[in-house]
Amino acid sequence: MLTKIENLSEYFLSYEKSIANPETFWERIANQFFWRKKWTKVVDFDFSRAHVRWFEGAQLNITENALDRHLYTLGDKPAIIWEPNDPNELGITLTYKQLHEKVCEFANVLINNGIEKGDRVIIYMPMIPEAAIAMLGCARVGAVHSVVFAGFSSSALADRINDCEAKMVLTSDGNFRGAKVIPVKEVVDEALESCKSVDTVLVVERTKTEVIMEKGRDLWWHEEVGKVDFVNKAEVMESEDMLFILYTSGSTGKPKGVVHTTAGYMIYTQYSFQNVFQYNSDDIYWCTADVGWITGHSYIVYGPLLAGATTMMFEGVPTYPHAGRFWEIVDKYQVNQFYTAPTAIRALEAFGQEPIEPYKLDSLKVLGSVGEPINEEAWHWYHTHIGKGKCPIVDTWWQTETGGIMISPLAGLTPTKPAHATLPLPGIRPIIVDGEGNELKGKGVEGNLCINFPWPSMIRTTYGDHDRCINTYFSTYPGMYFTGDGVKRDEDGYYRILGRVDDVINVSGHRMGTAEVENAINEHPKVIESAVVGYPHEIKGQGIYAYVICDMEDRSEANLKKEIVSTVSKIIGPIAKPDKVQIVPGLPKTRSGKIMRRILRKVAEKDTSNLGDTSTLLNPEVVEKIIQGAQ
Ligand code: PRX
Repeated sequence: MLTKIENLSEYFLSYEKSIANPETFWERIANQFFWRKKWTKVVDFDFSRAHVRWFEGAQLNITENALDRHLYTLGDKPAIIWEPNDPNELGITLTYKQLHEKVCEFANVLINNGIEKGDRVIIYMPMIPEAAIAMLGCARVGAVHSVVFAGFSSSALADRINDCEAKMVLTSDGNFRGAKVIPVKEVVDEALESCKSVDTVLVVERTKTEVIMEKGRDLWWHEEVGKVDFVNKAEVMESEDMLFILYTSGSTGKPKGVVHTTAGYMIYTQYSFQNVFQYNSDDIYWCTADVGWITGHSYIVYGPLLAGATTMMFEGVPTYPHAGRFWEIVDKYQVNQFYTAPTAIRALEAFGQEPIEPYKLDSLKVLGSVGEPINEEAWHWYHTHIGKGKCPIVDTWWQTETGGIMISPLAGLTPTKPAHATLPLPGIRPIIVDGEGNELKGKGVEGNLCINFPWPSMIRTTYGDHDRCINTYFSTYPGMYFTGDGVKRDEDGYYRILGRVDDVINVSGHRMGTAEVENAINEHPKVIESAVVGYPHEIKGQGIYAYVICDMEDRSEANLKKEIVSTVSKIIGPIAKPDKVQIVPGLPKTRSGKIMRRILRKVAEKDTSNLGDTSTLLNPEVVEKIIQGAQ
């Protein structure tokens, strides 16, 4: 493939070219895709307005590039291999031809049910092939998909439906997750009680859980598919037409809808996929993420399919029915590239070597890590016990907003270093700044990570609120995109991500805004005020520690804590449940009324030997009480 980098010097050369002349660089890559009409301008941007446009004037459909383009050469190649939750159930393999038919068919279902270009469609589904078919079907007809992770609660789902005024929801009767069956259709029904925009719900039959089908609104997926054929002419999209919205947490307010558009996202996800993972044409690639997150979008569905790869989807969890499930799947399908999150690695490491022993794992060539900093111990365990010392680890740093991998080794080409994301991909210009926005040049520096030139798959706006996009990403350091992450550039010029510098906690690789969790806690009628911070957690990376002031009157402390945890679970979802709740008599506040989180973080980290300057506190006496009650 023309854009596949084959060795380290080629990487350095590509990087130089991408900086010296970005337009020529990206144009050369773009030329390999199928366009209905070519562009008039490669890039146009003004960060002060969060204005970024790539390949203006061009027309295309991303599914023609992910599917139709491969039919002649790769039609019979497996596109998606699906492994169910239960190892005794048969898996499904869809070739490019079959996937193309299913996507066209589903596009016709959408059209039949009144979906038009620009309409928003929510996907709230388990990890089944229909989830990918749904995404691609939307893209085929020009509808904007917004996948909501199926672990979110009905109220979180309703917030997202209402924010983007979705017309349709795609879901299933239930989800298999380990030993559990989750009644997701019920969650959708509850959410829709407070959503006016949705007029159709399509339900995939998966668990045969009994569901209530509301007349005039709810339809079975298989019945609708039975009414259409599989001939579908893809909608012609403009380069900057919206492809999808994905909600993610920030340091303030409700989750925001990160918007990605068509052409730039397409080019960058394919380019980064083939280079980071060094995918070869007969490889079997497996990313264990859920399509509810950006990793699932870019590196289960779009990137691999655009590159003509075989991509796996796994419905289940790493520990069901046993802690060797991942490794069993690797052997069963002879997986070559395996991409997962540090939290999964740490969780499996905790089971010891025994679950790995029955498996050879000799098909593996590349291991990947994403979502949070990978600690050195987990890196070495992964390298030694899973990669058998021979597989390079690509520690890929990126974000929902970046659309694709930004800083990462290229597998087997870039020399790796534990816990370091190493070097930027071609076209990516990281810059480290201090608190005032001054650039920290050279090696051995530490500061805030920004990117000071656009790349094709970057965020275009936050849905329905462009000012929020400007304020969140482009105002802290004018002229740059601010990532919210701290970073170190070491003596080798390698980047090491240090974690978030804002009020965002990274729990098991999932982003949680502290304000969002606090708002949920505050919904409990007995809660007066709360403050949430992150603390180091052995498996999850970070845990959620909640300090809560309560009216204790008629409840025991233990009951109250339980109720608080279940309130958060109900309002956001189980992933946001606090790991620790401490009932406190007060919160340390400055004279201007601001909570001094620094102190709360230190207490949560059990590091109270030096709390720094507390003289500006309005209520210094409360600190000692908090330390005494700490968990
Ligand atoms: O803090 C960084 C962390 O995850 C954040 C992005 O989260 P999200 O948008 O949910 O996307 C996760 C999947 C791309 C980043 O701001 N993060 C992601 N990858 C890494 C990481 N931290 C350290 N090392 C990584 N490889």
